[in-house]
Amino acid sequence: MNVSDNNPILSGSAQSIAAYQDAIEQSSKAVVEWLKQPEMYQGKTVEQLRERINLNFTAEGLGNQATIERAVEYFLKDSLSVHHAQCVAHLHCPSLVISQAAEVLINATNQSMDSWDQSPSATIVEIKLIEWLREQVGYQAGDAGVFTSGGTQSNLMGLMLARDAFFARQGHSIQQDGLTGDLSKIKVFCSESAHFSVQKNMALMGLGYRSVTQVKTDVFSRMDAADLKAKLAQAQANGEQVMAIVATAGTTDAGAIDPLTEIAALAAEHQIWMHVDAAWGGALLLSEKYRHFLNGLELADSVTLDFHKQFFQTISCGAFLLKDARHYELMRYQAAYLNSDFDEEHGVPNLVSKSLQTTRRFDALKLWMGLEALGKKQYAEIIDNGVTLARQVAEFVSAQPDLELVMQPQLASVLFRFRPQSDDVAFVALLNQRIGDVLLASGAANVGVTEADGVTCLKLTLLNPTVCLKDVKVLLESVKQTAEQLLNA
Ligand SMILES: Cc1ncc(COP(=O)(O)O)c(C=O)c1O
Repeated sequence: MNVSDNNPILSGSAQSIAAYQDAIEQSSKAVVEWLKQPEMYQGKTVEQLRERINLNFTAEGLGNQATIERAVEYFLKDSLSVHHAQCVAHLHCPSLVISQAAEVLINATNQSMDSWDQSPSATIVEIKLIEWLREQVGYQAGDAGVFTSGGTQSNLMGLMLARDAFFARQGHSIQQDGLTGDLSKIKVFCSESAHFSVQKNMALMGLGYRSVTQVKTDVFSRMDAADLKAKLAQAQANGEQVMAIVATAGTTDAGAIDPLTEIAALAAEHQIWMHVDAAWGGALLLSEKYRHFLNGLELADSVTLDFHKQFFQTISCGAFLLKDARHYELMRYQAAYLNSDFDEEHGVPNLVSKSLQTTRRFDALKLWMGLEALGKKQYAEIIDNGVTLARQVAEFVSAQPDLELVMQPQLASVLFRFRPQSDDVAFVALLNQRIGDVLLASGAANVGVTEADGVTCLKLTLLNPTVCLKDVKVLLESVKQTAEQLLNA
């Protein structure tokens, strides 16, 4: 058979366009049916899914239609409904309709953000968005920054540039010569509640988990600036070298925002790079009510933002911002085929020199279209909604005799536990773990199970702006009923 008789490639031919339209229509119809499913999850177990899902790779292929049917049957129907009111376990958002439209454009055009000749208009859109994001943070005008796959990669960029700048000040180029000296003395400071990607990234960078010094947190999971100060003095006395302080604006569970201004003052005093992981809290950049929670963010040397959290963009969509563009020299690499001297001298922009990735998706389009479609006011409202709802839920939880509020909410999460009449900590922990498991297995709800101060608790991450207090009361009722069933079993 000649490939042109049955061309599988997206192109301008009439046959390809018809196949594209059929495939997209069939898929979007299936999505519509899936959206109408009342259940949050069909409840299949790991074993059931392993049993059910098989790979059907034949010599001749199934064709688009049958393949889409199989994907609907085996993937779509057993997907988690992230838009469901009872789906509140993680920083995992339902997505904007406009983000879906953006994905259609991103996917069909398949631009690659590494060089301008692979993404002419897209490169300019991304640069303009970076300029705009810098303005929101309070950085000077410029375009130092790039879209990333998310918080983990943005944190890696911040830590890597902090490390390389630290060594550069001592006349050593990590880029050229690699790690050197007594590495056991190199430290990064972050709070006990910082995201684990700090540890993972330090290990990846050859410095190990042991390079991470955890600073104590206060009762709201915020970094204790007095402990930071003491630990910095201690590090100095021990001959340790602190290459970065990572502050968090929106810790994963409590949504805590570290005291950014105080941390920045200590970082400046000790001439230490300050990176702020604002993967979650960065959403408040758009807020009218809560923007001030981020005061001090502009003092950071680098910032992580994540749009697939409370900006409601589809996965993946994040950004890294660098205060001083000169630091990008630390990761400069020229590849003749992408960012040659010739092109740079002739003003051809390229984003490969600002990114850890080479081939990269045009995720920036989603944020651009999101901001244009919703406008700043509606965007602010859907972000603020979660923060306000969390406060209402906390008040309600506090009034329930069998529920215990673990901490006052700061962003859009509520930490609490079911409290039976027992002081047995292990028993209460296991009961709460089981409540989460049973709710997911029943398909009724996905509630987070985590730890606060080392003790198991439940977590509601109330990002979804269509959820209201009434929905959360239904969920809390399910929590109570499940607890009673488990206690009576
Ligand atoms: C505070 C914080 N930073 C970083 C990350 C990692 O982000 P990503 O999953 O986009 O890599 C998360 C993920 O939840 C997070 O909560």
